[in-house]
Amino acid sequence: MKYLIVANWKMNPKSLKEAKDLFSDIEGKMDPANETEVVICPPFTFLSEMPKGKVKLGAQNCSWEEEGAFTGEISLNMLKDVSCEYVIVGHSERRKYYSETDKDVNKKAKAVLEGGLKLILCVGETEEERKAGKTSEVLKTQLKAGLEGISDLSSVTIAYEPVWAIGTGNACSVDDAKEAGELIRSEVSGDIVLIYGGSAKKDNAEGYLKEAGFQGLLVGGASLKADEFAGIVEKAN
Ligand code: PGA
Repeated sequence: MKYLIVANWKMNPKSLKEAKDLFSDIEGKMDPANETEVVICPPFTFLSEMPKGKVKLGAQNCSWEEEGAFTGEISLNMLKDVSCEYVIVGHSERRKYYSETDKDVNKKAKAVLEGGLKLILCVGETEEERKAGKTSEVLKTQLKAGLEGISDLSSVTIAYEPVWAIGTGNACSVDDAKEAGELIRSEVSGDIVLIYGGSAKKDNAEGYLKEAGFQGLLVGGASLKADEFAGIVEKAN
């Protein structure tokens, strides 16, 4: 099986030079025979400067509008123009810090697919929601709303990202991730790619990929270290 490993660099690294160095370090450490699909999602300004090769490019966000007076936004055509193939939509940081609603997420998701790019839709519960026993309710709501009106799932990846596991070092247990993954699959009527995100690293990658049934990983912090990220890609070999 071919895995999908996605690097979400968020608002890092600090300069174009560091971004270029990190990109080529990662590429250099990857086994050329490894068939894993590797996607790097750098900040927008670095996209056009990244080498075009085996590693694919993704964006961390997009506008649902095509063009016009939308200050600060990036269109899908602009992303395609710089060879972006994937777009992350509905990341919990966008939901939390930029008040993105399920409706916004759905508009972006549709725009990504209509634009001919591949969608990575993030869903996940907060710590409070998990403690209150609401994990499945939250996942169902986010999936239903996020995928509303989307019938062709052939370019859809769902990333299960428990919010409490993101950037905390407190990764989700393999059993809990498996349970959430199974729920997601049962909620979505179609063949999606399902990946896990939340403090994924070299040492825990195998559990999600080989035991919990995920087809890949969405990696934040660990994708900023070439050794660590290449190590994760290696586990998916
Ligand atoms: P993390 O981030 O790997 O640093 O937890 C994952 C994500 O936000 O996608």
